Amino acid sequence: MTEDVKKQETADASSDKKLKTAVLTIGDQQIELPILYGTEGNPVIDIRALGKHGYFTYDPGFLATASCQSKITFIDGAKGVLLHRGYPIYELAMQTSYMEVCYLLLHKELPNREQLSEFTNQVRRHTMVHEQLSKMFLAYRRDSHPMAIMCGIAGALSAFYHTNININDPKDRESVAIRLIAKMPTLAAMSYKYSIGQPFMYPKNNLSYTGNFLYMMFANPCEEYVVNPVIEKALDRIFILHADHEQNASTSCVRFAGTTGANPFACIAAGIAALWGPAHGGANEACLRMLENIGSIDRIPEFIARAKDPKDPFRLMGFGHRVYKNYDPRAVVMKETCHEVLEELHIQNHPILDVAMELERIALSDPYFIERKLYPNVDFYSGIILNAIGIPTSMFTVIFALARTIGWITNWIEMQEDPSSKIGRPRQLYVGVPKREVPPIYRR
Ligand code: SDX
Repeated sequence: MTEDVKKQETADASSDKKLKTAVLTIGDQQIELPILYGTEGNPVIDIRALGKHGYFTYDPGFLATASCQSKITFIDGAKGVLLHRGYPIYELAMQTSYMEVCYLLLHKELPNREQLSEFTNQVRRHTMVHEQLSKMFLAYRRDSHPMAIMCGIAGALSAFYHTNININDPKDRESVAIRLIAKMPTLAAMSYKYSIGQPFMYPKNNLSYTGNFLYMMFANPCEEYVVNPVIEKALDRIFILHADHEQNASTSCVRFAGTTGANPFACIAAGIAALWGPAHGGANEACLRMLENIGSIDRIPEFIARAKDPKDPFRLMGFGHRVYKNYDPRAVVMKETCHEVLEELHIQNHPILDVAMELERIALSDPYFIERKLYPNVDFYSGIILNAIGIPTSMFTVIFALARTIGWITNWIEMQEDPSSKIGRPRQLYVGVPKREVPPIYRR
């Protein structure tokens, strides 16, 4: 018997063992619901038929609810595994570039040299933004948080690309993706330059994607700017680590907005808004500020106690995750990169890194964190690297948004291509006042 036949027999046998339905018994009703299996991860119970039996399910925060089928990214939270189109994040981060990962997410396979060169050139041709867009920045206070600017400015792209795009045309959907990948670094750098009162720098397309972003962020018209290859490589790796992450809050917002047929640039603005929260992408900025606030190793116990106190809203930023109940694999790479970058930049005894490492050591040996399976997540070390390579703290979440744009738009495209996709419209459990009559005003 050949290996393949043996494998198929095993697969058939295990698929025979797989339950095909779940039976829900409600009083004298027996409701049969199909069980669906993916290629990896938990099977799901298809509850779509439940409504006609007079019941809804209740799952605020979607702790146990799948919102869609997807082929883009898979996370095994128990094992700390993250795959993009089947490739482990560690290998992608160490062996590829952000442009290669963008191509992979968008086109489902890693590019060969020729495909990568063509894709990179496609992106390069769209790095500039409309001159009118740069005038929009003047509407903001100079001290606006860069994420406040990004929410508005990214959404404003929909004013320039609306009647001229057909979201039902795959070619138009791809051009939306290319424009977003290309323009987000330009808009991100502009939001920084505006906040420090320096002139915007136009993209230089002879630089790499990440080199171009560093140029637009830190160059000025008065002097030559040379991209530091150590910083370029570290930032490119950080972009890879933030590229996509299943149906997280901001990606779900982009998909949700997309189910109404809204302009894709406006859908991305919805994602940026959701990402800004400190429970989500805003945690990288909040984490560095927390580490700076702790300041020294001897103050760590005070903050650990606060994090454990149910009456204190303080939480350890950069710790915990809805899905990972193991070390976030991105944090593993981030921690390794942190040491590499500090060494290559000859930054000795970085006080914040010492606090971070001691905080991690103490938390991971504390029963409170062990019982709740709280580990460092992607945001715990990223701020230290960004800080070391000169990215201002207020720009940390902008960097996250820039890098996650490929994940958002790939999910938006997958949703548009899904024939079973319907407008997102959750139900509710109504606990308000039952129906009553309106009393005339003299009786109120
Ligand atoms: C990102 O979803 C994604 O994939 C997101 C992301 C992506 O790439 O898109 O990975 C990016 O958002 C990473 C997470 C960044 N956020 C933070 O670092 C903020 C701090 N972390 C927490 O706010 C929290 O861990 C969440 C929001 C990340 C997850 O919250 P959950 O899943 O709703 O868990 P929970 O709040 O129900 O916590 C379970 C328990 C609670 O204690 P008990 O009620 O059981 O006593 O763990 C405690 C929480 O109080 N807890 C923490 C904690 N995180 C959870 N206690 C102290 N410090 C923390 N950081």
